[in-house]
Amino acid sequence: MKFLATLLTLAATASAVDLYLHVDNDCGSSGFRCTSIGPNSCCGTISNNSPYQSVSVRDIQQLWNIQCLGYDGGMCNRRRTISDYTGGDFICNRSNGFRYTGVEYRSLGWERATGSSASALKEEEEECQRPDALVLGDGSEFDLAGLSDEEFDAL
Ligand SMILES: *[C@@H]1O[C@H](CO)[C@@H](O)[C@H](O)[C@H]1NC(C)=O
Repeated sequence: MKFLATLLTLAATASAVDLYLHVDNDCGSSGFRCTSIGPNSCCGTISNNSPYQSVSVRDIQQLWNIQCLGYDGGMCNRRRTISDYTGGDFICNRSNGFRYTGVEYRSLGWERATGSSASALKEEEEECQRPDALVLGDGSEFDLAGLSDEEFDAL
């Protein structure tokens, strides 16, 4: 059982990534981060009036068959961009105009090979997690977890 527990812990670690909402259009080094989040979990804000112009998935590690999904319309309401993972250690997509309000990733597993992508694409009602950290270009980080929604929106 000891071994099994270790294995499960490793598996859990491997399937979590960091999701970012960036205020620039190029997945720059600053952004709002949902730290260590699992698949199909929205990272975003309720506000329609968001400043985010690009989204990224980072800290991918050994996961490879994943996609980054970007949304607008408040949290993960309306999907606007889908990005395949093509190697390297992050996935990025840009709005080139609209403002993102949410980002999530999904693991494709074997679904692509078996052609059941229609069901895999079906979105479900879900909760949205607010970013828990603000990362600045110089590497400094601020913990946002303790802010109220009003304080967060005022950032
Ligand atoms: C960004 O999203 C669009 C729309 O889904 C997609 O066609 C494009 O391939 C994506 N770009 C990247 C770099 O993944």
